Amino acid sequence: MTKQPSARLWEKGTDLDEAIHRFTVGDDPVWDRQLVHWDCLGSAAHARTLNRAGLLTAQELNSLLKALAECDSAAQRGAFEIPPELEDCHTAIEAALVASCGPAGEKIHAGRSRNDQVATAMRLFMRSHTLRWLGCLARFAQAALDRGRRDGGIAMPGYTHMELAMPSSVGQWLHAIAEATLEQMRAAFDLLERMDACPLGTGAGFGVPLPLDREHTAALLGFQRVQRSPIDVQNSRGRMEKYFLRVAADIGALLEKLSGDMLLFVGPAYGFIELPESMTTGSSIMPQKRNPDVLELLRAHGARLRARVAELEWVTGKLPSGYHRDLQLSKEPTIRTGNELVDMLAIAGRLLGEFKINAERMAAAMRPEIYATHAALALVRQGVPFRQAYRRIGAEITAGRFEADPAIIGSTEPGFVSDDTWQTVATDLGKLTARATAERRRCEQAEAALLQIGE
Ligand code: ARG
Repeated sequence: MTKQPSARLWEKGTDLDEAIHRFTVGDDPVWDRQLVHWDCLGSAAHARTLNRAGLLTAQELNSLLKALAECDSAAQRGAFEIPPELEDCHTAIEAALVASCGPAGEKIHAGRSRNDQVATAMRLFMRSHTLRWLGCLARFAQAALDRGRRDGGIAMPGYTHMELAMPSSVGQWLHAIAEATLEQMRAAFDLLERMDACPLGTGAGFGVPLPLDREHTAALLGFQRVQRSPIDVQNSRGRMEKYFLRVAADIGALLEKLSGDMLLFVGPAYGFIELPESMTTGSSIMPQKRNPDVLELLRAHGARLRARVAELEWVTGKLPSGYHRDLQLSKEPTIRTGNELVDMLAIAGRLLGEFKINAERMAAAMRPEIYATHAALALVRQGVPFRQAYRRIGAEITAGRFEADPAIIGSTEPGFVSDDTWQTVATDLGKLTARATAERRRCEQAEAALLQIGE
């Protein structure tokens, strides 16, 4: 058995089995790289609160803030190491503070635990990613809106059960995507509201017997409220992550539907749309191939986000109250999801802007029976009871006598999206975007002030 160097925070001088150490540390040094920034901000807020409580002098505080800013900028450059023997980013940061600030570094952990630290770092990570998603969703909705306004007037069949149903249009299809995206923006705001409570100051999960002003810590970190119950802070680890992943999974499902639609439409059976050559990939054996791999991967990424929710449900669902090391495994799906969704939305927005439309193929697919409902309703407008009109048109179709009257074809109004409707989408999108920008500014201002050294 190899002995680990005495660097862990909880080191008591006894040996730890090397394999056990490696197993318990797991991937933390990898995922925690993305938490260094957030832990530096949490540490700065905690140090400021310790100073307010008279437990750190102004000088000590300033030296800690300076060292935290250095850790943070090293992390931005990719130069902040988390050696596996130090377990995680919290330990590596504390070690750096002790190295550069001496006794002040040894004071910072008073009144906190890695349990409330990691909850805080994860919440800040999720908040910042939710805000990024909002920006991405706004750009994606804008792409649907722009394309809809440009090409929405092109007629296209509408399907139910994948069978011809009623006349529709490119605009009606894109309008659905735009509206669903606005709905996901609302869901993201709801998520922000749920997460807007500060975990810091609750220690290992039962509070800390020091006069820490938690309201102050929360305000410094840009949280609107304190998460009051220390046990609930630990219980909400995993729960908040699930809220975060569920919103992501719903957005993923939207992109999955979009890519599924596009895959049908690019295929030879439909031939309604085409991807620009630069967006397709080739085959290693079949020279003629130009494949829509990008759509398939978007679909698979969307599906995988649902699997991540299931992963979290299983990892965290069975736990009794309080902290358990199981929670460490909630980081990977959460951090991966935060980052991936940004890429997925950017790619999906590009697809919406750049696919090519084959209007003739769409028009050719609109066989006469697609106008049957319109023909029945034209009779209704002439005073025929609907069920009779329905039977009359049905009989014409069965007998092969139905011809779509051009007057009816010309009045397929509901299948197209009006300028007014696009305008309401634009107005809603504008309001949601402004709200997202304000929210992002509020959080970023609080974050930017944390590492700044005052007078
Ligand atoms: N890596 C740990 C986690 O994610 C950090 C907290 C460790 N706390 C502890 N009591 N071992 O949960």
